[in-house]
Amino acid sequence: MTFPVPRDIPLPLPAPEGLLEVLLIVSFIVHIVFVHMMLGGSLFSLFCQIKGLKIPAYETLAYKIMQAVTVNKSMAVVMGVAPLLIINTLYAPQFYASSALIGSAWMAVIPLVIVAFLLAYAHKFWWHRFVNIPELHIGISALESALFLFIPLIYMTNVNLMLFPEYWPEVRGFFSAMLLPNVLPRYLHFVSAAILFSSLFFVWWSGRPSFQEDVKFSPGQSLVIRRFFYAFAFGATIFQIFSGLIVFVSLPPQGMSWGVTLLLFFGGSLALPALRWMWANISHPENSVDDHFPRIIALFIGALVVMGVARHEYRENALHDHKVAIAEKTANYMAAVAEVQEQAKLVEQARHTGMEEPGETGFKQNCAACHHHSLPTVGPSLEEIRKDYAGNPAGIVRWTKSPGKKRANSMQMPGFPQLGDAELLAISKFMLD
Ligand code: HEC
Repeated sequence: MTFPVPRDIPLPLPAPEGLLEVLLIVSFIVHIVFVHMMLGGSLFSLFCQIKGLKIPAYETLAYKIMQAVTVNKSMAVVMGVAPLLIINTLYAPQFYASSALIGSAWMAVIPLVIVAFLLAYAHKFWWHRFVNIPELHIGISALESALFLFIPLIYMTNVNLMLFPEYWPEVRGFFSAMLLPNVLPRYLHFVSAAILFSSLFFVWWSGRPSFQEDVKFSPGQSLVIRRFFYAFAFGATIFQIFSGLIVFVSLPPQGMSWGVTLLLFFGGSLALPALRWMWANISHPENSVDDHFPRIIALFIGALVVMGVARHEYRENALHDHKVAIAEKTANYMAAVAEVQEQAKLVEQARHTGMEEPGETGFKQNCAACHHHSLPTVGPSLEEIRKDYAGNPAGIVRWTKSPGKKRANSMQMPGFPQLGDAELLAISKFMLD
């Protein structure tokens, strides 16, 4: 099988490959948790703001949520640097190729992130200024959420495309890469994870004493709000299981193995007891709702880690053949480089031992870059020069010592003050030979 993969950059990795892989998984999980809370928070803030038009307590809640969003957003960005750098290091040829294939969308991440962040700040810091113009305020919030939803889709399209060089020749820009099998199911799985993790985050957050002091909700209201988030976490988990199954069947078989399958199902099954406890919290008739919170969190963190490992295993499997092909190309390249270096050494030796014709080395070193033997390149070809200077090597010497300007569409030839008359004569004779 041939893949359109480039060769690798022949540089040693800065750390053992296994260590980089572990760091990639860990740093990615940390990053994605904050991305989930950023995106989910933005969506919740929008949702509560709309609900707040009728029930004012939700407006207060929307404002509080928004305060967490900007913090989570900063964390998501900072924590995204490490996995991005490690991906670039471990999968340079694949990742650069897929980034180039969706080039403009990939570059658009930068302005889109800037605009999304500015909108998030406007949404949060001008809250009280906008509160009487709800259309504008909700509009800003909606635009911010839309951008937070769209940016991860670009990332996902890229990291998916990088896995399948088989598709590279067919891909025509971002949208065609986005429509490859598996991207959209994976994206839905991601969005429901964002709702799930941010709901759980807000269950914890809205239970803190400082939150209670700030919002001054009655105990009954606080309970309603925590149930509200638990209900979303519950629904998102169900959706997560279904979208996970769709992802599973739509994953291209290249990366599948029994190990990956077992990990995926094990990770997914951790959600089942969590569902049960969340249901208990939602349907509990009494006042307390967070009896099981630490257990639920532990299960979901466990599921996240297992899924992170499975994701990495899948990537390694999918890329295995390409990695072999890339290694081979890189080895060929290194061999070609070694050959050229060897040849250069031989030329140098021949110069010292006088094995080359006189003038040949001087020509190769000084003139050959611009004068091909039969084709006009930067300067005229040797064939052309021979016509003008046949039997007249001294003429070439004269020209080279002070080149003129003859041909309208070529550059001016540089001078060669470092070459003495004897060497120039040898070069000229060689050129006319
Ligand atoms: C950086 C490119 C470059 C290098 C290196 C170079 N040349 Fe040239 N050479 C030119 C160009 C361009 C012309 C055409 C200039 C013109 O016609 O105005 C030219 C023209 C010539 C001509 C034809 C002059 C004529 O009367 O038509 C000779 C002879 C020549 N070069 C000899 C040499 C020799 C000998 C060397 C090496 C010592 C050399 N060149 C290195 C670019 C180069």
